[in-house]
Amino acid sequence: MCGIFGYFGSRLAYPLLLNGLRRLEYRGYDSAGLSVLDGGVRTLKAVGKVKNLEALLDTCPLAGSVGIAHTRWATHGVPSTQNAHPHQDCSGKIAVVHNGIIDNYKALRTLLESQGHVFTSDTDTEVVAHLVEEFYEGELEEAVRKAMLELEGTYGLAVVHADEHKIVAARKGSPLVLGIGEGEYFLASDPTAIAEHTRNVIYLDDFNVLTLAEDGYRVTDLTKAPIDPKVEKITWEVEEIERGGFPYFMLKEIYEQPSRILDTCRGRMNPSAGEVYLGGLREVSDRLLKARRIVISSCGTSWHAGLVGEYLIESLAKIPVEVEYSTELVCKEPMLGPEDVFIAVSQSGETADTLAALRLASSRGALTLGIVNVVGSSIARQTDAGAYIHVGPEIGVASTKAFTGHLTAFVLLAVYLGRLRGSLEASQASQILTELAAIPAHIERILERNEDIREIARVYSRSSNFLYLGRGINFPIALEGALKLKEVSYIHAEGIPSAEMKHGPISLVDETMPVLFILSKGDGSTRVLGNMEEIRARKGRIVAIVPEGEERATAYADHLIRVPEVHELLSPFLSVIPLQLLAYHAAEIRGCDVDKPRNLAKAVTVQ
Ligand code: G6P
Repeated sequence: MCGIFGYFGSRLAYPLLLNGLRRLEYRGYDSAGLSVLDGGVRTLKAVGKVKNLEALLDTCPLAGSVGIAHTRWATHGVPSTQNAHPHQDCSGKIAVVHNGIIDNYKALRTLLESQGHVFTSDTDTEVVAHLVEEFYEGELEEAVRKAMLELEGTYGLAVVHADEHKIVAARKGSPLVLGIGEGEYFLASDPTAIAEHTRNVIYLDDFNVLTLAEDGYRVTDLTKAPIDPKVEKITWEVEEIERGGFPYFMLKEIYEQPSRILDTCRGRMNPSAGEVYLGGLREVSDRLLKARRIVISSCGTSWHAGLVGEYLIESLAKIPVEVEYSTELVCKEPMLGPEDVFIAVSQSGETADTLAALRLASSRGALTLGIVNVVGSSIARQTDAGAYIHVGPEIGVASTKAFTGHLTAFVLLAVYLGRLRGSLEASQASQILTELAAIPAHIERILERNEDIREIARVYSRSSNFLYLGRGINFPIALEGALKLKEVSYIHAEGIPSAEMKHGPISLVDETMPVLFILSKGDGSTRVLGNMEEIRARKGRIVAIVPEGEERATAYADHLIRVPEVHELLSPFLSVIPLQLLAYHAAEIRGCDVDKPRNLAKAVTVQ
């Protein structure tokens, strides 16, 4: 959610800290701030985007080669300079940046205030600075460790003290990564901020305490016992986190999808034999063979991918599937047990709600799988097994390539399960996989129609509302298209199953209401054409996504977007692309900050 960056070395810290914050800005952009050790602790903060902090630093540069920085997505307290991180103690010697939520901050604050601590912000984080101050007896690491024993909730923390040439960091439930350079160290909540400096990283575990000092780095646990963490390599290239000539990451990531789908499939399928190899599932194949039911849990766009996964798995593997919002699953007494398979779907692998659902499923004995993008993320590490989608870093806050990456993984999983359990003939599997292999080329053809889609976006860019209608496996795509439009252009949009429209939403339809239909060649298309007629009769404006060769819709639609005709189960790959472009262009035409939509964060690490 928020972003943390720290630098310990011999270079001037503040330009590196600013650069780190720019890389992390997609994680939160309500305010930003940094503290450097420069004689004492010097702190600067600014409301709004990182560029505001940068402007402040232009007038007031800071010396010092050790510092911590933060870009915030507000949870406790409005976005303001006071509430921006770093937070400091009463003496002004300690500075803290924090991701996560301190659940018991109110009780701690009351206690600390009774001991004379004076608070200056409304945040939960400030209690950490005062707690560390309370415990400080000349050793920052020890004071942080003692503070951790008092903190309930989640945190990724980085702390500095004016009297020590050190950074102390700690983690519980909120990611922190150490980048190991040549005589210098980088600390971040996300490796995207580290990759340009070094590829050698350590992902901290919960309750790890990391100290960066002149003599190197040291990782210990809460009892001070040393830990020898594994040094891992960042596998993606730095160019992947650059815009590469595109005006926005979202557009770049939409255009990346053909190659990313190939990346998700690489080495995992043999279309002619109808075989899928998912190495990450090999050890749990026995339990998959016997599984009684699958429960998929996720949030946002990943939840929509889960809904498509339900169609795929039920059709190809004949296993009953339920798809739950992670946020709702944890409110239930879910009927999950050892015969069930729980699948957490996530781009970031850090969504707090999905992690909570995963822990619940684990506690009930279900086999847990992760379909995740970010390698080494919490969900990937806390599940029994899984498959990465390998679509590379996704920076645009509105998810695009991770969505089609998840769809790809679900096709592979459904075919794998279908073959494993004998519900899918090799010839059927071969047909699906052969068509999957052709999807990237079909997407390329849709991308060639970008200008036509932009023109449609221009026509409707002043609309206040939009309805998205789809049926069957394209109903989740209607939901996803509507979500994309809302997220980036702020046009209100609703996704509805086409035939449900007449049970209520049709009352909204008049000449000001654009309605987008997704048609595929499946059984429902005749009925969907009937729904179009109903909208037309009420003077609604119609945009229709139709498979090539489907001419009947021309009679009703104001605008047609043609996509190649494919197997019904793969049609979501093609229907979602125009919807991503439509949302992107509508936002761009309306002057919205496409990559950083207001109030949103890329990874929501608080429940
Ligand atoms: C946030 C993002 C969405 C994303 C959702 C789930 O709300 O803004 O784009 O779909 O979290 O994130 P995940 O990383 O778990 O896929």
